[in-house]
Amino acid sequence: METKQWVVDKNQHNLESYPQIKEAANLLQADEVVAFPTETVYGLGANALSDEAVAKIYEAKGRPSDNPLIVHISTIGQLQQIAQDIPEQAKSLIKKFWPGPLTLVLKRKENAVSKKVTAGLETVAIRMPSHPVALALITASGLPLAAPSANLSGKPSPTLAKHVADDLTGKIAGILDGGATGVGLESTVLDCSGDIPVILRPGGVTKEQLEEVCGVVEVDRAILEEGQAPKSPGMKYKHYAPTAPLSIVNGSMEFIQTLVKEKQHEGLKVGILTTTEGENKYEADQIIACGSREDLESVANRLYDVLRLFDESGVDVIFSESFPSEGIGQAIMNRLTKAAGHRIITE
Ligand code: TXA
Ligand code: MG
Repeated sequence: METKQWVVDKNQHNLESYPQIKEAANLLQADEVVAFPTETVYGLGANALSDEAVAKIYEAKGRPSDNPLIVHISTIGQLQQIAQDIPEQAKSLIKKFWPGPLTLVLKRKENAVSKKVTAGLETVAIRMPSHPVALALITASGLPLAAPSANLSGKPSPTLAKHVADDLTGKIAGILDGGATGVGLESTVLDCSGDIPVILRPGGVTKEQLEEVCGVVEVDRAILEEGQAPKSPGMKYKHYAPTAPLSIVNGSMEFIQTLVKEKQHEGLKVGILTTTEGENKYEADQIIACGSREDLESVANRLYDVLRLFDESGVDVIFSESFPSEGIGQAIMNRLTKAAGHRIITE
């Protein structure tokens, strides 16, 4: 299949009337699959009302079909068509954080979207993205769009159109290139279908920010402890894994340097994931800085690109520094721990 690529400047006005967006929207209406930028990561969109269209998402990504998708909307009217019994807390969160990187799991209306979107669950995950290109595409298509991250299953989520093209060229109808995404990690998934909201996946909106709006918010135990069965089906899969085994190191730079030397003596090529603060302080085969420790949002923003760069660098093993787990740090450590397959070395 030919994969079209359109470049769009997200700062233009009336984007929904742009020829590139219209062409992409037409393909969506014809039940084809199109990748588009959001403020978190690139999404792989398809008509959420069509079984045929949604099946193409699973096929292109190689995604297990028991892992449900997020429905992306551009109006509150679409929310009301898809979800029911929306609790007051969820309404307050919507007021505060939509459009933006917060996905709410709500009770779904019967037959409102394709069963393939919800993978047989009684609930549906919904978000209104804030990226102008995403909003324009949803509006121009007139459809709610089911969209997972636009990577091959098991690869880091794409934060650049190049990442999408590397994974999915020839497998999807088109890619809207709107430049680098913003947050760099996926949206926070919050289950609002019970009495107390539960974070199923930490992300762009932090626990602290959610609690300011609706008091107590719980975190699914599977995020905090290894070996717990997660409530969000997608969290049980090994995600975001670079080709070379990655270990997170809880320890000093000297300790990390010792680990590197040991591996090099075994004849292996070693990579270090650090920050701008550590970049010039190590010796290894490949040292990549992922943002600055002074600004954890810059770490989130770069993380997936850095994981992909390690794949291209040809190293045999990777050691990563560890990050504090407050604020956006919770999402960073969640993704990094998964990328590391829970390998953590403590000094
Ligand atoms: O930032 C994002 O959320 C990106 C952009 C493209 O919007 N999308 C994304 O989608 O990360 P995906 O498919 O890679 O992750 C969706 C997550 C999965 O962990 C899935 O299991 C969970 O949301 N999910 C979807 N529907 C659910 C439901 N009804 N109940 C619980 N978890 C659900
Ligand atoms: Mg994903």
